[in-house]
Amino acid sequence: MPTPFFPTTRFTAALAPGGLPLLGHAPALLHRPHEFVARLPAHGDLVRLRLGPLRAYVVCHPELVHRMLADDHTFDKGGPLLAKAREVVGNGLATCPAAVHRRQRRMLQPAFHRERLPGHAALMAEEIAGATARWHDGDVIDVPAAMHRLSTAVTARCLFAAHERAGSPPVHRSMDVVTHGLARRLLLPLPDADRLPTPGNRRLRRARQDLRETTRRLIADHRATGTDRHDLLSTLLAATDEDGLGLSDAEIHEQVLSFLLAGVETTAATLSWAWTLLAANPAVRGRLHAELDTVLDGRPARHGDLPALPLTARIVSETLRLYPPPWILSRTATTDAELGGHRVPAGTTLLFSPYLLHRRADLFPRPHRFDPDRWLTTASPAPGTYTPFGLGARRCIGDDFGTTEAVLAIATIAARWTITPAPGRPVRPRRGSSLAPRPFTARLTRRIR
Ligand code: HEM
Repeated sequence: MPTPFFPTTRFTAALAPGGLPLLGHAPALLHRPHEFVARLPAHGDLVRLRLGPLRAYVVCHPELVHRMLADDHTFDKGGPLLAKAREVVGNGLATCPAAVHRRQRRMLQPAFHRERLPGHAALMAEEIAGATARWHDGDVIDVPAAMHRLSTAVTARCLFAAHERAGSPPVHRSMDVVTHGLARRLLLPLPDADRLPTPGNRRLRRARQDLRETTRRLIADHRATGTDRHDLLSTLLAATDEDGLGLSDAEIHEQVLSFLLAGVETTAATLSWAWTLLAANPAVRGRLHAELDTVLDGRPARHGDLPALPLTARIVSETLRLYPPPWILSRTATTDAELGGHRVPAGTTLLFSPYLLHRRADLFPRPHRFDPDRWLTTASPAPGTYTPFGLGARRCIGDDFGTTEAVLAIATIAARWTITPAPGRPVRPRRGSSLAPRPFTARLTRRIR
């Protein structure tokens, strides 16, 4: 049991108010999900919801979130949404149960080792510069779509560096279809809706086949030459467990899908929200431009620049606080358990929400305010308080990768461009388990010729 950080002696449990007969709290959760969840801590530390026939607890206290995530065997990944994700992407790192997780994590960790980061960052920098090279002064772009393309291109390049450079049919086009398709499928209410012969399902099936075929060819090519190409695929191929066994081709394919599912949308959403926040806060944007003009003078950002870009890094941390892309996550009690002195029967669904924690006024003063400078004094928040990358054994394996990508992209783009969303209604979040903005357009203004 981890040492309690908060001096709370008794954690409260309560039923959330306002449940309707039969439907319970499902309409409130569907109608205004973020506002509804952010209000729950007012009712208790463990708040019970009725979602139709399903009973779930929302864990609202950071100490309890910390305890739950520290015990990944008792509180494992599970539940209906995860079952659907497993059907589509298999049992890769992000979706596998605790029983096989340790082995997978140990094998995959070297791919994201700090020493690998400068190599990944060099590829990221090329892709970011390439993606923005086609922009023109006065262009109007769909920001979330552009950031999704950018993040897909970066991930594709870091997974399959040699392939992408060789100019073969770009993998990232199939990846784009796959990541969009997977996100859509997770939202489909009917269990078999993904088997219907709709154009979207056919496109997704074709893209998955293309990706499988490409991965198969690349694996064969890598295995034949045995060359380390300094990409993620090379590290997956080199991975062995304690018995010296490597990953099979099918397992490597599952991990590729796992990285796509977990890595593309999250980073793209972070970048999109950052542009809206910077546009709404011209004083911060002015200071960002000053930092970038001093350090970069218009050139693209590189890995070596990161220590000289502290404000850019704080902007990323603050964006992830206000808009953590996986804003609500779940666990299932695998056995009769106890949390904060309350009984949790086996099979109970437990939800935790980085969004809820990040918007608690007792943890983050003036929580709705975009204030990157709060990170000058809040360098290490208490465990369970700031959780955009999760915690414990299932903490994001790509946290440094995603943060590096976001800092390099914001620095390179903002050094040359100002992104101004079209005037009108504020940008609203999309529905779903990922906190991403709805499509919005913005005008590009060149800062440096
Ligand atoms: C800003 C970007 C990102 C955010 C906010 C983010 C967030 C998260 C969170 C919250 C989790 C934990 C989920 C849970 O506990 O249920 C997670 C897990 C994971 N993420 Fe990320 N992620 C980001 C980028 C990436 C990238 C770039 C990759 C890979 C290229 C990646 C790969 C993964 C994987 C494989 C897992 C599962 C880890 C495990 O269970 O051992 N993520 N991510």
